[in-house]
Amino acid sequence: MGWTIGIILVSYLIGSISPSYLMGKWVAGIDIRQHGSGNAGATNTMRVLGVKAGIFVFLFDALKGVFMVWIANVLTGGNLVAMVLAGLFTIFGHNWPVYFGFRGGKGVATTIGVLLTLAAVPALCAGVIAIALLLVTRYVSLASLSFVTFVPIFLVLFHRPMMLVFATIFLALVSYWKHRKNIERLAKGQENRLGKKANR
Ligand code: G3P
Repeated sequence: MGWTIGIILVSYLIGSISPSYLMGKWVAGIDIRQHGSGNAGATNTMRVLGVKAGIFVFLFDALKGVFMVWIANVLTGGNLVAMVLAGLFTIFGHNWPVYFGFRGGKGVATTIGVLLTLAAVPALCAGVIAIALLLVTRYVSLASLSFVTFVPIFLVLFHRPMMLVFATIFLALVSYWKHRKNIERLAKGQENRLGKKANR
């Protein structure tokens, strides 16, 4: 129990580190949240600061999730509850970072890292669908939403623990909430395509 509370706290603090915000400040002297879509995430970093910066942010954000789930695994001897909580709170830190006024990203890269570590095969299957959608539509948001939607479905198909299924349904709902403006734009046909100028 002591470990779990410590893991939750550290996960939130590590998740709160925003490479997107920091790169905006250090590389261009801007608050990334005032530019492009206004999101402190990999897609908007790519849009505003370029492809290399976007890839760096994606990897950093995903590795936060991988790292904290792995740490929880090592410290608790593979306790699934602790690993899931580590993943969830790393994503919460990313979405609502304590260091940056609780205005962070939408959690997709970190969610990918967390889910690849917790359930690699179902996450990869959902990832294939998401990448196909991205290639066809060039909507990162649609691909992101399809990823979080298909993960719980594949978890059920692969007979993974129900706790993981419920945790990922919850994550999908959080992701839908964080993407609510993207959903509005998708519905109006005004969503930003990868590589194009951004609407907010
Ligand atoms: O992961 C965020 C992505 O799904 C959408 O980002 O900047 O286009 O709102 P953005």
